[in-house]
Amino acid sequence: SSPLTVLGIETSCDETAAAVVSRTPEGRGHILSNVIRSQVDEHAEFGGVVPEIAARAHIEILDGLIAKAMREADLGWDGIDAVAATAGPGLIGGVIVGLLTARAVAAASGKPLIAVNHLEGHALTARLTDSLDLPYLLLLVSGGHTQFLLVEGVGQYRRLGSTIDDAIGEAFDKTAKLLGLGFPGGPAVEKMAAAGDPAAFRLPRPLLDRPGLDMSFAGLKTAVRNAAYQAAPLSDRAVADLCAAFQQAVADVVGEKSRRAIDHFRDLHPDREPVLVIAGGVAANSAIRGRLEELGQETGARLVAPPHALCTDNAAMIAWAGIERMLLGPVDDRHVAPRPRWPL
Ligand code: KG4
Ligand code: ZN
Repeated sequence: SSPLTVLGIETSCDETAAAVVSRTPEGRGHILSNVIRSQVDEHAEFGGVVPEIAARAHIEILDGLIAKAMREADLGWDGIDAVAATAGPGLIGGVIVGLLTARAVAAASGKPLIAVNHLEGHALTARLTDSLDLPYLLLLVSGGHTQFLLVEGVGQYRRLGSTIDDAIGEAFDKTAKLLGLGFPGGPAVEKMAAAGDPAAFRLPRPLLDRPGLDMSFAGLKTAVRNAAYQAAPLSDRAVADLCAAFQQAVADVVGEKSRRAIDHFRDLHPDREPVLVIAGGVAANSAIRGRLEELGQETGARLVAPPHALCTDNAAMIAWAGIERMLLGPVDDRHVAPRPRWPL
């Protein structure tokens, strides 16, 4: 059989992205082009993503990005087998822009349309980068999502646990805002934390005393707020210490829940090496990553972390998820509607 090649489109949050990805008959993924335009500058002054601004920015630049991705891939429309776009979950204005644009492009080029669940894109990225076998564990940690998934097959995802309130990235962003560190907050908090002493503040480890894989981060954020209030006015030193304490609390929770996830995987698949894939923007955090690497050494589980550019929102993962869907049989998603909420 010949390779499969898909144009992918991603517009569900504040990144506008288009990519062309193919899969060899042997199952290897190749990224032929992967273009992305972050809207961070447009949203920075508001301290967070503004849905209306995001939707307008997607409208303005998506056509150009698709043209660029096609030009860089240098295959022409004849070389494309299908068009895949995020159909949810996400900010609905952006999702509508991406999905309807994809529908038009698919119709004009005579290709099938594949409506991809954004979370499925994150879930399958490790198979694009690492030709990973199923099943594996996925820890998805982004600004919008924090969950453990068991990826058993394409379209077969079992949610083992998730946050009951804030996503981890959201907790990082809110902590940064509270401490005046700007947006996006994750990288800013990590940078400050490097100079801080995590033992200087005592913060809670929410839900660690309860069984299972659910997590909670809203209380931690509130604890940071109270600590900041009590220590006001905050010196630079105190801000650094608070960032370090917060980051360590998150790493402790993620580490312990991941240990349980690995145990659970061993119970379900005693004959397989446990594999934990980490994805999402928060996967860039070196304290969290370091904790999971230690855990891998301790438990014998394999930790897989796709390159950062493919962990955060991008269109290559959407194209790849489209390819994985095509391998299961013909797809025609022309009539699929955009969905703001769409659990896996
Ligand atoms: O996956 P992503 O790019 O977008 C979605 O949310 O879907 O993730 C963005 C999130 C933001 O909340 C950002 O603050 C967080 O990932 N993040 C980090 C780091 N880099 C990005 N959080 C902690 N440490 C980092 N180094
Ligand atoms: Zn995402």
